[in-house]
Amino acid sequence: MTNTVLVLNGPNLGRLGRREPDVYGHTTHADLAAHLVETGTGLGLAVEVRQTDAEAEMIGWLHEAADLGCWVVLNAGAWTHYSHAIADAAAQTAHYLEVHISNVHAREQFRHHSVLSAKASGVLVGLGLGGYDLALAHVAAQVGSITAR
Ligand code: DQA
Repeated sequence: MTNTVLVLNGPNLGRLGRREPDVYGHTTHADLAAHLVETGTGLGLAVEVRQTDAEAEMIGWLHEAADLGCWVVLNAGAWTHYSHAIADAAAQTAHYLEVHISNVHAREQFRHHSVLSAKASGVLVGLGLGGYDLALAHVAAQVGSITAR
């Protein structure tokens, strides 16, 4: 099984650090990406972090992951709640974990439903940016990339 992991972030997540810091924290997307690549290296994973505000681009990345047969860590932002096109693309990947920085269930009603959860291998919600680290740790355990020390 490939040790490549695509961490795919959807709309408005490129504004991490500036966007509602009380909800999403002060870390920028660039800092999150650098941190996850480093964490991935420690876990024996080749992590690539991408962000887009364009639905077509995200669908293309999910197709790429499907063709590679790699794991996806997906925070689809608001698309989570209504985009069946993103859900159909995610369903083609070998495995994906759904991540949300905030606890969507403690927020507005429209955030309570996800069109992605039914086919996700797992869902990490409300753990802050640490949810991404936990997702990578899970992937590492699944692909067996952690070497004995
Ligand atoms: C989010 C939650 C979504 O409801 C929201 O639209 C986002 C971010 C999260 O990470 O908590 O953009 O996915």
